[in-house]
Amino acid sequence: VAPLRVGIAGLGTVGAEVVRLIEEQSRMLAERSGRGVRVVAVTARSKAKKRSLDLRGINWAKSPLDLASDANVDCFVELMGGSGEPALSAIEAALKSGKSVVTANKALIAKHGVRLAKAAEKHGGAFNYEAAVGAAIPVIKTLREGLAGTGVNRVYGILNGTCNYILTRMEQEGLSFAECLKDAQRLGYAEANPSFDVDGHDTAQKLAILASLAFGTKVAQSAVYVEGISSIAPEDLRAAEELGYRVKLLGVAVRTAKGIEQRVHPTMVPKSSAIAQVMGVTNAVTVDGEGIPPITLVGPGAGGAATASAVVADIADVARGIRAKPFGRPVERLRDTTKAPMERH
Ligand code: NDP
Ligand code: HSE
Repeated sequence: VAPLRVGIAGLGTVGAEVVRLIEEQSRMLAERSGRGVRVVAVTARSKAKKRSLDLRGINWAKSPLDLASDANVDCFVELMGGSGEPALSAIEAALKSGKSVVTANKALIAKHGVRLAKAAEKHGGAFNYEAAVGAAIPVIKTLREGLAGTGVNRVYGILNGTCNYILTRMEQEGLSFAECLKDAQRLGYAEANPSFDVDGHDTAQKLAILASLAFGTKVAQSAVYVEGISSIAPEDLRAAEELGYRVKLLGVAVRTAKGIEQRVHPTMVPKSSAIAQVMGVTNAVTVDGEGIPPITLVGPGAGGAATASAVVADIADVARGIRAKPFGRPVERLRDTTKAPMERH
């Protein structure tokens, strides 16, 4: 069988690790997928930029759209970020030509996920985005496939590595918010615009995706009430600790009598609770399913290597010929979110 030909747009924290991992794991990928996986073309903003990557023998595409339209590419991998262009047109072009797409871009999915899933379903390509929520944690597959036969009442957790890293270091080392954020950026955890992390929008985007998979709603970030952590100081964390609590930024989506409620805000959790033990860049997602005890997945929630591991798993699924419905059911079956975000209290 001919190898799967992969084109990668974006060679930053995640993209560079994906190129490395595909090269490093080529034998295992071929064994598991039944065919080879080869990076044939890449692109990024600057061709001249120094990168510690061996790109010999790999074509450099002029633009993401050119890469997505390249007849020699079977699977287009989008790792540029941003909720609009050029990611949107490139992904759409790839899907419309029947190619499969893999992305880690939750901002784009939260805004255009339904439109892109529709294109994938119509033209037969896969649209895989495991890395978009919880980086290496296989939470998308768990909700979409593993729990396909279980009604979900609530899904919640710590969905942003940068915020949990900041809160952990502020609490444990008494460092300022600004110092911790700087380190999160240096380590490749934060978004290009870190306000997406600290103001809660990244968590809201991920929560909207999880809610869609859990409850069959149309992904809509606008349906999520959002409050971030940027006004929290080390003294607030100390005060919480004296009362026996830790502060965590939680995303919660819950079935209520009036519809699906989705909210993101800093929450005081008892220090003895399981979620209070989740420290640093680690994420945790708990699913309360009907008739079964809660299931919790815990693991690295950001960073190049952790995220690349999920991206490469998605590419391996494409190589195997797996074509899952992006949101677990046909797009036309997804319902509008019925409950508007809570009023600010
Ligand atoms: P980076 O900022 O490190 O890398 C972005 C890459 O995209 C760079 O190579 C950049 O080029 C390229 N790029 C940006 N804009 C354009 C453009 N207009 N045309 C062509 N190339 C462009 O981001 P990350 O690797 O951290 O994140 C990538 C995606 O993965 C985002 O969607 C992010 O939300 C998601 N993600 C990130 C995680 C993380 O821990 N970092 C975890 C989970 C998801 P150049 O190098 O030339 O500047
Ligand atoms: N900026 C994100 C975070 C990357 O810190 O969680 C992983 O999605």
